This record gives sequence, structure tokens and C-alpha cells, in this order.
Amino acid sequence: MKLSRRLDPITPSPTLALNAKAKALAAQGVDIVGFAAGEPDFDTPDFIKQAAVKALEQGFTKYTATAGIPELRKAISEKLSKENGLSFTPEQILVSCGAKHSLYNVFQALLNEGDEVIIFSPYWVSYPDMVQLAMGTPVIVPTREEDGFAPDPALLRKALSPKTKAVILNSPSNPTGAVLSTDALKAVAEVLRGHDCLIVTDDIYERLLYTDAPFQNLVKVAPDLLPRTVVVNGFSKAFSMTGWRLGYAAGPSELISGMKMIQDQSTSNATSIGQKAAVAALTGPREPIEAMVKEFRARRDLFVEGLNAIEGIRCRKPDGAFYVFPSIQGLFGKSYKGAKLHGSMQVSEILLNDFRVAAVPGQPFGAEGFIRMSFATSRETIEKGLSRLRDFVATLTA
Ligand SMILES: Cc1ncc(COP(=O)(O)O)c(C=O)c1O
Repeated sequence: MKLSRRLDPITPSPTLALNAKAKALAAQGVDIVGFAAGEPDFDTPDFIKQAAVKALEQGFTKYTATAGIPELRKAISEKLSKENGLSFTPEQILVSCGAKHSLYNVFQALLNEGDEVIIFSPYWVSYPDMVQLAMGTPVIVPTREEDGFAPDPALLRKALSPKTKAVILNSPSNPTGAVLSTDALKAVAEVLRGHDCLIVTDDIYERLLYTDAPFQNLVKVAPDLLPRTVVVNGFSKAFSMTGWRLGYAAGPSELISGMKMIQDQSTSNATSIGQKAAVAALTGPREPIEAMVKEFRARRDLFVEGLNAIEGIRCRKPDGAFYVFPSIQGLFGKSYKGAKLHGSMQVSEILLNDFRVAAVPGQPFGAEGFIRMSFATSRETIEKGLSRLRDFVATLTA
């Protein structure tokens, strides 16, 4: 069968392949230490579940407006105003089946063939593919670990072209956990002021922060850019609701209505009962989320300290999200079973096959020389994984 050429640039994800293999091994009873997950290991807080149960019991089980129930769009509008200081009317908000869906809609509504989208690396694996599925061209702008993975304004300026339609920012970041400082955001804003393109700020890890500094995104520090910014956020990470598939976008009316038209003809509304649960999530108590963040912070500290104690591995302390992103470049050139180590895919495969540790290679994130490990898992699992990593490094020869 001849499939659409839209699929030509899309490659099967090596991350998913690794995850699938780790899961298959675990299903066979192999004792895998899983660091590959991109989701909190906590259950959805009970008060959120109860809101969905109540909605079910009340028969709230029919189609809703594509853009979302008015109650939820209002709650999102109020959240953006109160917590982020951003003014978006409910009509400027579209609720979708996950932040991934929101981002997909953005690019489908915005891009024509050949339009460019700037993505800073290391990046979340889905950004380039989503841009390409919309016939756009991803333009990758590298950032450096030494700069805390903050964009280099000069490189950004160089990458902007008349074809640049959008720039994506993601802080706290998947995969690095890096949080952009006020100065870093201001520097990016200064460059973007000179170029009329959409700013996509993916704030999905907003609540998973381990410093005392409040969350901020680009428009918070540069409110003049609000008219051409779309804020993408969701419920998966902050409220441990990955399986519920709920996200949203807030942005310029024209863009949001274009996205809504695409959603009208694809998924229609996000689930009715999920939307009721989302209202509870936004308006309910903060304690369950604070407890989760506190535990994540303790796990992060444990993980980073353990990694930095291993010769050849170096790990920055991430200020947000739930990933450590250590450099393994110090292991390259050493030998394992007679083969020289040279890449993150190779190291991830050895770790999974011989040491039963599932860690995601940095290469698909545009960051060769790193591996991503999630601390959305218990402290015991982290200790066990660290011990296996030590065993691996101990077997290496010069
Ligand atoms: C950076 C980033 N953005 C967006 C998403 C999408 O989240 P969801 O579709 O579950 O809301 C993810 C999920 O892993 C992510 O890491």
C-alpha cells in the first residue's frame, strides 16, 4: 500500500523500541530496573478521581463542546491569570486529549510545507516528528550543558529565517530537567521581538519544580509577546493523570479557532468525565501535589549524588521535571567485553541486556553522550539501579 509521504520523515522511535523491550523482559519475569517512564508513579489524587466518579454517576457521559466545557475553560482561564499572570479569555482556550494533542493541533493549524520551527536540543522526542507530520521543517538549535541548557541568543538569531513560523520553549525541560532563568528567558524574548513568529511555550512540567523560585515562562518575563504566544499545558505530570489524556492550549483567537476546527474533524472533545476531573484538579487542594513534589525532590538528590559518585558519569542537578540527564561521555573510549563504548544507544542497550537497567539514550533527544533516567520511581529502585550502574562501570577496561 502506498502511504502518505507525510510519513516519510517519521522514523520509528528508538525510545519506544527500548521501552517495549524493557516491558517485554519484565513481563517474562526478568527483574528490570525501569528508569524509562515519562510519567509519575503516584496514583491520581483521590479528590480528582471522585470528581470523575460523581460525573459518571450524574450521567455526564455525552459529547461536550469540542473546545471543552465552559466550566473547565473558565477554570483554566482563572488559573492562567492567578498563577501565571497571563490574561486569556475562556474563548482563547482549547481543551484537548493531552498536551501532545494540543501541540499537534498547533502545528497542523499553523504550518505549510517548508515552514520552519525552531527547536532547542536536547528536545522532547515528539517535537520534530509533530512538526514534520504537519509538513514543516524542524530547525534544531543546540544548547550546552555548561550553559545549563539555556538557549544561546546568538545561535537563535542565526537560526531565524523568513521561513521561521514558530519557536518552541520547554522549561522545565524533558529530557534535561533544566529550568530557564529570568535572564535566559529575557534574552530569548529580546531576539524574538525582532522576528514575527509564534512562540510555543510547553509548560507541562510547571508544577514539578525543586527550587524556591516560582514558575515562569517566556511571556511572564516578556508580556509584550503575549499576542503571539500559545501556552500549552496539561494534567498528566502535575496531577499524575497521564492515562486520562487531558491537555490544553491558550493562545491567539485565530490560532485557537483553527486548532478547534482541526479537532472538530478529528477527536472532537476530550472525555466528558475527564473534563470534570480536570476542573477539580485546578480548583482543589494543593497538598497531594506538594507531597509528590517533595518526594520527587528527595529522589532527585539521591539519584544525582549516586550518579556523581560513579567515575566517568557526571550529572547536573535538574531544577524541575522528573529526569536526571547525566553525561556518559567519560565512559566513551573504555571497553566493555572487548568493544569500545562510543554512543548512548550502545550504552543503553548494554545496560538493558546485561545489567537489567532501562535508561533512555540521549541520541533521540538530539543529545548524544547523555542518557535520560526518570526518578518517577521508588527510592529503592533508584538505589538498585545505581548499584547496577556501578557494576557496569566496574567491568569496563581502559
Ligand atoms: C515536554 C512534554 N510536553 C508534552 C508532553 C505531553 O503530555 P500529555 O500529552 O500527556 O499531556 C510530554 C509528555 O511526556 C512532555 O514530556
